[in-house]
Amino acid sequence: MAAEPILAEALSRIAAEVDDLFDLLLPVPGDARARLVEAMRYAAIGGGKRLRPLLLTATAEMYGVDRSSALRAGLSIEAIHVYSLIHDDLPCMDNDDTRHGKPTLHLAFDEATAVLAGDALHDFAFELLADPVAFPDPFTRAELVLSLGHASGMNGMAGGQMMDIVAEGQSFDLPTITRLQQLKTGALLAAAVDMGAILGRLPPEGRTHLRGYARDIGLAFQIADDLLDHEGDEAAAGKALRKDAEAGKQTFVSLLGPERAREQARMLVDQAIAHLGHHGQEADLLRALARYVVERDH
Ligand code: IPE
Ligand code: IPE
Ligand code: MG
Ligand code: MG
Ligand code: MG
Repeated sequence: MAAEPILAEALSRIAAEVDDLFDLLLPVPGDARARLVEAMRYAAIGGGKRLRPLLLTATAEMYGVDRSSALRAGLSIEAIHVYSLIHDDLPCMDNDDTRHGKPTLHLAFDEATAVLAGDALHDFAFELLADPVAFPDPFTRAELVLSLGHASGMNGMAGGQMMDIVAEGQSFDLPTITRLQQLKTGALLAAAVDMGAILGRLPPEGRTHLRGYARDIGLAFQIADDLLDHEGDEAAAGKALRKDAEAGKQTFVSLLGPERAREQARMLVDQAIAHLGHHGQEADLLRALARYVVERDH
């Protein structure tokens, strides 16, 4: 399905902004590190839907945050996401050949460079957030770093990736798969919303509805990714599909079958939108994003 107009415009705007900022902040040095930065640029520029920066800027905009700081924070979370994909594609993990319609980084360069490019993107993310020029308020800086660090590590993405690997060839029950997905994918999506709210200086007790929204779309998002793997179009997705079942991945699709998984994802989207009930038009972009998460073809 094509994205709704409000979303289509926001998606193309954020894609251009993220590309430009990566380009500006990752100049290739004139020494032997050039290969590392070229690899970081290869993975970071010119691909991906940029959903995490969009979630962050869309949330921040609701609370009047200036676009340039929201964009920097968005770039930091995208850097973590790109690093997670580089490592996820490595032969020791999902062993994938294609990402964003081109050879994966370890094939275009080599495995050592791919590991280092992932590492360096991870560090780049925290350098961005800890920069006092971009984020002058020390409390905001610390909160941003804490939010992204928590969502990336053992209590978030990396923890979920571990569960994903351990799950291969086992059968997990629904609560365990839900937890796996929440960590692997949901945590970074939730951090995007949380970081937007931090920049908007919303106190934690005022963020409950946003947390609910983010939790629901996070889960719906991974169910959609698993449905795409099961029945999507490889050219549209820009990555190899039909791999999860063979690898013995534990997903909503493997447990419930595609029909019930799709129903579950749609129900989560309705629930996500319901969390925004007391917002007016200012939340329309978040609502459109929620719908897109399950209707997308890539
Ligand atoms: C793919 O994420 C990996 C998962 C976390 C499921 P996205 O679908 O957001 O990846 P890109 O960046 O848009 O390709
Ligand atoms: C990866 O999930 C999630 C990450 C944290 C990188 P998948 O392994 O399902 O993502 P794709 O399908 O390769 O994009
Ligand atoms: Mg994986
Ligand atoms: Mg993968
Ligand atoms: Mg997948």
